[in-house]
Parts: sequence; C-alpha cells; structure tokens
Amino acid sequence: MITSTVSSRSPWRAFIATRTPPPKSRIQCSVQSPPESSSVSKICKISVSTPAGTTSVLEVETGEFLRNTLINNKTELYQGLWAKAMNCGGGGNCGTCVVEITEDESELMSPRTPTEEKKLKGKPASWRLACQTIVGDGVTGGACSVRIGPM
Ligand code: FES
Repeated sequence: MITSTVSSRSPWRAFIATRTPPPKSRIQCSVQSPPESSSVSKICKISVSTPAGTTSVLEVETGEFLRNTLINNKTELYQGLWAKAMNCGGGGNCGTCVVEITEDESELMSPRTPTEEKKLKGKPASWRLACQTIVGDGVTGGACSVRIGPM
C-alpha cells in the first residue's frame, strides 16, 4: 500500500490539479466572462533582474507558470545560445530555466516539485526551475523578486 506524505488538503495540490488541461473531447468554446468584481487583487508584481544588470517589473495575473510569464513579457529567460536552442520547452528536463527567487514575502511561488528536487539537488532552496514554478494561486496577488541566471 502506498501512502502519501503530502497533505491532501494542501491548497497548492488542489490548485495544481486544476491546471491540468482537460481531455480534447471536453474542450469547448465559450464566450469570455466579464472580469470578476472582487476586492482581492489577482495582480502580481515580479521584479526581474538579469545577468546583464537590468531590472524590470512585470505586472501579471497570478496563477501562471513563471517560465510562461517571463517569456510572454519578452524577458530573456534562457542565457546563452545553447540554452536558447536546446532547452526542453518547459518539460523540466534540461535545467536551463533556473532562476533564483530573491524575495517572496507574499509566498506566491508554488512549492518545489519532485522534478525540481531532483534537478536542483544540492542547490540553494531559493533556486527554482521557472517551468515548474507557478506564480500565485490565481486568486490573490502580491510581489516577489526573481533573478535570472543565478549560476
Ligand atoms: S525549460 Fe527545461 S527544465 Fe525548465
């Protein structure tokens, strides 16, 4: 019998489970619903510093993978020609998307996945694979700081 050591009541576990795309047969087109009128901010401010010494602040909705957020905002996540050409596209296999979370007082980042534990074994706990890290739970906002290319 296999038992899980992770609490089934973990809000991250439930959130990550909702991130799994439905089977193709269940995909339906629908009219986009209006934005929710909630007093809770779903916006996250991510301060991004690069090896070149530049810093920018991204304002994005929470609940997205950090890799996608950075790429969608035209941030150079992959450093060097080899990483740009040979990255695994977010599969958690290559390790070229390593970033350092330098500040996360709002605790926006999802916990390390087993893939990250394996790939980042022996590295500081603040190092993450951007393709495995979800920024926020899609409900609440906050702020955090990310440094690209901590190696
Ligand atoms: S893109 Fe390959 S491990 Fe993240």
